[in-house]
Amino acid sequence: MTDVLETAAQILSRSKALAILTGAGISAESGVPTFRGKDGYWQNYRTEELATPQAFQRNPTLVWEWYSMRRNLLASVRPNPAHYAIAEMERLGGNLTLITQNVDGLHQLAGSKRVLEIHGNIWRIKCVRCNRKEERRESFEELPPRCVCGGLLRPDVVWFGEMLPKDVLSESYRAVESCDVMLVVGTSGVVQPAASFPYMAKERGARVIEVNMERTAISSIADVTLRGKAGEVVPALLEMWKQSLS
Ligand code: OAD
Repeated sequence: MTDVLETAAQILSRSKALAILTGAGISAESGVPTFRGKDGYWQNYRTEELATPQAFQRNPTLVWEWYSMRRNLLASVRPNPAHYAIAEMERLGGNLTLITQNVDGLHQLAGSKRVLEIHGNIWRIKCVRCNRKEERRESFEELPPRCVCGGLLRPDVVWFGEMLPKDVLSESYRAVESCDVMLVVGTSGVVQPAASFPYMAKERGARVIEVNMERTAISSIADVTLRGKAGEVVPALLEMWKQSLS
């Protein structure tokens, strides 16, 4: 492991433009379930009943019950060493863009300042009628909650079949196309368009470093694969990177 860590740290220390892509695996050690693992959400729930605009139209209360359950869980979890290490990477300076598929806000809580949340944020809600958006952290007494205009409120997250937020997506593409290294942490790499980011970066000559407990759809193009828990591997990588800078 030390050898591959060293190789990865060397690649990072030479990088002039680093893009980081994270997925549910980075929050697993904080106690947040992933989607596709053994205990993942999609083992027990059907996406089409919960994470689609049709599901919300059909049964907004059911969809909100699921999001309320997730919000309640997230309210008590903390970032883990992987989130903190990534926040420190940003503070180390240089050109870093953090793209996350997570909606949990844990990167920001760990101190990351610029986070491109391509799937939205579970703490932000929007009105389906007047489109007003606001951050609401409390749990709602009545489900589904309603806007002052009378319209239904929904979580401001991206559901299957929906467009990703335009500005966030174009900023992400800019980073993916211009990075010389992409660090991919804790994603299965099967949900588009994020799944294609490492491929696009690689095609343009970037090196790809993957941190994951398992082999994924990205592993075959990774220049360096770091197998292990994000909460252990990412801080170790940061330490080695810092050593190679001094
Ligand atoms: P997945 O649940 O598909 O994948 C989680 C990945 O994290 C897997 O590859 C695991 O092997 C890995 N993993 C688990 N624990 C880990 C740990 N402690 N350290 C390192 N890796 C670990 O989650 P995503 O790839 O994020 O979208 O899923 C992408 C999207 O699918 C989500 O954003 C969500 C979901 O449906 C929407 O809801 C739109």
